[in-house]
Amino acid sequence: MNLTYDTVKESAYYLQQSGFGVPTVGIVLGTGLGNMVEKISNPVSVPYSSIPYFPESTVEFHKGSLIFGQVGDTNVVIMQGRFHYYEGFTMQQITFPIRVMKELGIKYLFLSNAAGGMNPAFRKGDLVIVEDHINLLPDNPLRGLSDPLFGQRFVDMSQPYDAELMNMLDTATSNEHTPLQRGTYISVMGPNLETKAEYRWLRSTGADMVGMSTVPEVIVANQVGIKCVAVSVITDECDPENLQPINISEIIEIAGKSDKILSQLFEDVIKQLSKN
Ligand code: HPA
Repeated sequence: MNLTYDTVKESAYYLQQSGFGVPTVGIVLGTGLGNMVEKISNPVSVPYSSIPYFPESTVEFHKGSLIFGQVGDTNVVIMQGRFHYYEGFTMQQITFPIRVMKELGIKYLFLSNAAGGMNPAFRKGDLVIVEDHINLLPDNPLRGLSDPLFGQRFVDMSQPYDAELMNMLDTATSNEHTPLQRGTYISVMGPNLETKAEYRWLRSTGADMVGMSTVPEVIVANQVGIKCVAVSVITDECDPENLQPINISEIIEIAGKSDKILSQLFEDVIKQLSKN
């Protein structure tokens, strides 16, 4: 795909013609995390396969639709299923939906992901706010983009996740764990999980959790001036001295158990935003 700004506009136009209004919030749902979709009223759902220039998810457990609707009084757009580098997509394909959501009008981006917990304080099922990240993915979504319509090239990343949104998650009405834990997320290519030696090394970088997503979307969101907040659901405990085998169905099952509380927190913050 040759990314030009016209392709972004064409996708956004297609969605507007399909019944999408102007969203304030974009939401990207991670592996095993779909409950947020049930919180939307008046949903308009468009399969990725019909949106011009959208890639099609190759992960069988990721649904592939973009959904517009309301959470309370706020217009939102949800990506039910995201794109990963390990699927073979380019970084520009992975982040194309973020550019389209920006073109539609979003000001805020809420992201969730399933992640391995390397901080020994983290337990399976915990929700952890992504406070910062380390990018170990082998490519960058801004690489090769010189058209200023996409935003600046040397994007500042001194505060990629919005402090106010993080605090709003902590004070969300349904939060039973105030404040939520926070951590640094490190993104890897996958799709294999890590060896003991890799977890040991990843932990030594200062990272608290590891996963295969989120960072490309956050880089582009920062380029185009969208405020981001991200939450990891810890699906496995990555203690190199006591590493248990893990498979993807367990990861999905554990993410599923925390899905309801995560979507409740997102809903609370979105409703609070509309009062600001
Ligand atoms: N490593 C990488 N990605 C992951 C993990 C992990 O342990 N758990 C969930 N996603």
